[in-house]
Amino acid sequence: MFPTAFLTSLVLALTVAANPVLIPRSSVTLPLSRRVNVTSIHNLVRHDVTRAKALKARGLAKANGFSIDAVINEQVDNQAVTYIASVGVGSPATTFSLLIDTGSSNTWVGATQPFVRTSTSVQTSNRVSVTYGSGSFSGTEFTDQVTIAPGLVIPNQSIGVASRSQGFEGVDGILGIGPVDLTLGTLSPATSSLIPTVTDNLFSRGIITANEIGISFEPTTTVESLNGELTWGGTDSSKFTGSIGFSPITSTSPANEFWGINQSIRYGTSTTILASTAGIVDTGTTLVLIATDGFNRYVRATGAVNDATTGLLRLTSAQFANLQSLFFTTNGVAFELTANAQLWPRSLNTAIGGTAGSIYLIVADLGSPSGEGFDFVDGFAFLERFYSVFDTTNKRVGFATTPFTHATTN
Ligand SMILES: *[C@@H]1O[C@H](CO)[C@@H](O)[C@H](O)[C@H]1NC(C)=O
Ligand SMILES: *[C@@H]1O[C@H](CO)[C@@H](O)[C@H](O)[C@H]1NC(C)=O
Ligand SMILES: *[C@@H]1O[C@H](CO)[C@@H](O)[C@H](O)[C@H]1NC(C)=O
Repeated sequence: MFPTAFLTSLVLALTVAANPVLIPRSSVTLPLSRRVNVTSIHNLVRHDVTRAKALKARGLAKANGFSIDAVINEQVDNQAVTYIASVGVGSPATTFSLLIDTGSSNTWVGATQPFVRTSTSVQTSNRVSVTYGSGSFSGTEFTDQVTIAPGLVIPNQSIGVASRSQGFEGVDGILGIGPVDLTLGTLSPATSSLIPTVTDNLFSRGIITANEIGISFEPTTTVESLNGELTWGGTDSSKFTGSIGFSPITSTSPANEFWGINQSIRYGTSTTILASTAGIVDTGTTLVLIATDGFNRYVRATGAVNDATTGLLRLTSAQFANLQSLFFTTNGVAFELTANAQLWPRSLNTAIGGTAGSIYLIVADLGSPSGEGFDFVDGFAFLERFYSVFDTTNKRVGFATTPFTHATTN
């Protein structure tokens, strides 16, 4: 005979085996692959500016209680640089390649790879639609089992299933990790309830112990590489150096609807590009966008000219030799974007229609003046040089230096 205690633990072990998953962990890490689409010429600036306009309009509408499905009639450009996570939906799961987006909060699938209904899929009575500026989708809201990593499953995640989408060739949808308020107004018939994000569900189910995301993107000069990482519920200290400098979410509208912060930007030792002003941190933007007056100061300081073919700023090699760092100061901590970090990777010049030997810059014109509460966008070009932390619980954004902050990869 076995002692009762043994039997009890055997039964427990069997019970656990029969109901796998849901082991609480302090954090969960999801690998991200960075992909550069070189099969067609991209207009990076147009894509990013269109997106920024749409985000700003959406933020303003939301702050003023208007309908937030901002209509922006601009050309749709697919993103050239994307970070993709593989996420499973259903049981058995269909795997989807989803864009990681801190500027929106709906998670949806089906843009390219069709959604497959399984026994875990529950269709709701809601339609869903989101406009991203350079792209949009609409479809039906489901709840389904979402598998983020092996053994890490959300049994009941609300997700959109696209019946129509544009601007998303090559990816299947979006993993929205922005503030949950951005889901308001995306369902019809209109409902006042928010759609809990993947992060919210991981947290409310106790799967992660902090409502926080840490993101590592790394610069690369190759077309596709598995070099990014998203950590839910904490940060990965192997991906950054020193400590994380946090800034509270700005109180300035409309940046405060997003992962918005106050920041000032300085060129070299003393040229102010933007005095302290509000803007956002965004993984759906490739470049660093600065309000027109600040952008013009940067152009004067660097001597750059506009390159008509790519839409980016261009420097001569003599000007590049003199290029100073840009300092992004937020909550008293300065983050240095080196001269090399201000370059578009030269090995990818031709992918954006540029000339192989030219020197293009990743700073672009936001297309509106400063003082409008949405005066900069820190996109990939910034986030590939600093680890970033999006902390819902404490309403703050953090940055830390990485081994790539001062690297000369471009
Ligand atoms: C599943 O999620 C939906 C929407 O988030 C919610 O209305 C419903 O109550 C949830 N069901 C269960 C069993 O948790
Ligand atoms: C690249 O972009 C083109 C046109 O925008 C699109 O047709 C193609 O599917 C994209 N490829 C990938 C891998 O994203
Ligand atoms: C950000 O800047 C605005 C405008 O100057 C100011 O009112 C606010 O206190 C600053 N800090 C935060 C966290 O919003």
